Amino acid sequence: MRISVIGCGYLGAVHAACMAKLGHDVVGIDVDERKIGELSAARAPFYEPGLEDLLREVQDTGRLSFTTDMAAAMESSVHFICVGTPQKKGENGADLTYVDAATSGLLPYLSAGAIVVGKSTVPVGTAARLTELLSKQQPDAHIVWNPEFLREGHAVSDTLSPDRLVYGVVDGSEDHPAVAVLDQVYATPLSNGTPRLVTDHATAELVKTAANSFLATKISFINAMAELCEAAGADVTRLADAIGLDDRIGRKFLNAGIGFGGGCLPKDIRAFMARAGELGADQALTFLREVDAINMRRRSRVVELTRELCGGSLLGKRISVLGAAFKPESDDVRDSPALSIAAQLQLQGSVVTVTDPKALSNAALRFPELHYETDTAKAVDGADALLLLTEWREYSDLDPYELASSVASSRILDGRNVLDPAKWRAAGWTYRGLGRP
Ligand code: UDX
Repeated sequence: MRISVIGCGYLGAVHAACMAKLGHDVVGIDVDERKIGELSAARAPFYEPGLEDLLREVQDTGRLSFTTDMAAAMESSVHFICVGTPQKKGENGADLTYVDAATSGLLPYLSAGAIVVGKSTVPVGTAARLTELLSKQQPDAHIVWNPEFLREGHAVSDTLSPDRLVYGVVDGSEDHPAVAVLDQVYATPLSNGTPRLVTDHATAELVKTAANSFLATKISFINAMAELCEAAGADVTRLADAIGLDDRIGRKFLNAGIGFGGGCLPKDIRAFMARAGELGADQALTFLREVDAINMRRRSRVVELTRELCGGSLLGKRISVLGAAFKPESDDVRDSPALSIAAQLQLQGSVVTVTDPKALSNAALRFPELHYETDTAKAVDGADALLLLTEWREYSDLDPYELASSVASSRILDGRNVLDPAKWRAAGWTYRGLGRP
């Protein structure tokens, strides 16, 4: 099939490459010339494992191209909208400027029967609004909401082999003409057994925000347990292991630590609350305010623990922060708890050095006032305390004996509870985890 993908960021670039991998002819379109230049040269404009190899592989087949010219969408019958929906400045709601601009820009190039597939995370009601817009210009085109559930760091495999596919069509019917077309687009994952659900527009939009809210709630639940464990002298990691063995609960997403960040969970729960308010259903989601508050409290807790670890004062203390990305295997620093903590420590008088295998240039753009060091050994040299804030493998594998000789004081705060406290203590370190004795 001939497919266009509008928006080539974390979602769209991966989606475009994966659609070409599935055998389709794909054009990726974005307004950012730099991004299009990189992608056209088969270079990933951000770090995502496997993406660059995939770009090279599919570009060699001639099935994938990139452009800034929306007119290139003209020959496609299926158009994926993959643009961002960030949090509005100064408000909780989602900013739909890019979704609206992409859809309006596409309108002149839509053929009769064309299918516009929304993948961006949007407030419920957006598909209905866009359907109205579409019906004025091209009444024979259709809007489908097909939420994306990919995780950064696993984006390629999540797109090629998703857990499930959700198609939201206007009447919620299996017989809607767009269903058969999307079945063709996703023929490979469907033939591999990926479950597929057809819903109405509103349900499909809500599936995404509900899923992310559930994940955020799970993380804040375990972080609330971490607060209790700290008060009671218990160990939240063992508690998570024990409750996670109940398969109604499950162990995944029960890692207590510095909390969730990134371009999705924080802004999605806020946009969800804002939208519920507009719909007169705000009471239903007041619990998400608590989920957000527990999450934000983690960051201040780490600053306080670091102060304790440094003997009561942060002033002039040399703190080395291991990790800047919001999670490992990503260079994304959007709402990264690690960076937010590093910035707080700096504001409170510490001398902070941040290191990360992939995210330092993005981090420096966001927080230019922090000091960055690419080399881990140099970053920890002479430190009064180390903070492990993003659980990159190379940090969880650090050798406490080797490291002890480079730091000024052997003190470590394990913000992700990934180190073995007994091993670090045996090597002479003062070890602090979160929600661990
Ligand atoms: C999330 C959803 O998982 C994905 O389905 C959706 O499409 C987009 O949003 P992503 O933002 O890539 O994906 O990251 P995710 O793996 O969900 O992690 C989010 C944050 O939660 C990270 O900061 C991570 O460190 C944190 N986290 C995750 C925890 O603190 N504890 C956990 O147990 C799991």
